[in-house]
Amino acid sequence: MSEGEKKEGVKRPDSTRRTVVAAAGALVVGGVVGYLLAPRGAVETVTQTVTQTVTQTQTVTQQVPQPVPQAKAYERVRLANIRDLANKRPVVRQYMGLNVLLVKLGERAVGGVGPDGDVVAFVNVCTHMGGPLIYVPDTNCAVCQLHYTQFDLARGGKQVTGHATEYLPQVELEYDEKTGDIYAVSINQLVYGKYDNLA
Ligand code: FES
Repeated sequence: MSEGEKKEGVKRPDSTRRTVVAAAGALVVGGVVGYLLAPRGAVETVTQTVTQTVTQTQTVTQQVPQPVPQAKAYERVRLANIRDLANKRPVVRQYMGLNVLLVKLGERAVGGVGPDGDVVAFVNVCTHMGGPLIYVPDTNCAVCQLHYTQFDLARGGKQVTGHATEYLPQVELEYDEKTGDIYAVSINQLVYGKYDNLA
């Protein structure tokens, strides 16, 4: 150490230390420059396999055939021809699955058809408890075989005596004047034992 340095109290590094420091600095600078100048074009390609479970909910609308409602209506059914009938000689016919008493009363009747307005038809089921009926020519009544209620067939089936409290259901008729055919077209009231005549 020179006198001057001693006087100033300043320590100066020797030449070896300066060389080492300079070399280290050069290395650091070189590294930084090298990093900055390194090519950046290289791109890493990553292949990834992804396993995915997909849950799908699908709504399917299905056309279900609907039952076609049956048309509820009385049928028009030919019961007889006027030439087939004689006064007070009843015949039994079927209408809407029921036994029907068809009779030419020999006197004009409520609801009667034909040239004399005396042909009528009634459901052969008593309105008291469903008993079968027998026609009585003398009175033009139908009499129940169970409890003997009488229904007047010339007066729309009105109950005359007995337990029944309802008229006998009358079959409504149509008469074809050209041919003489007699048709049943409906029943005018509920038949005993049924909740619907057409069911
Ligand atoms: S069932 Fe006809 S009167 Fe009783």
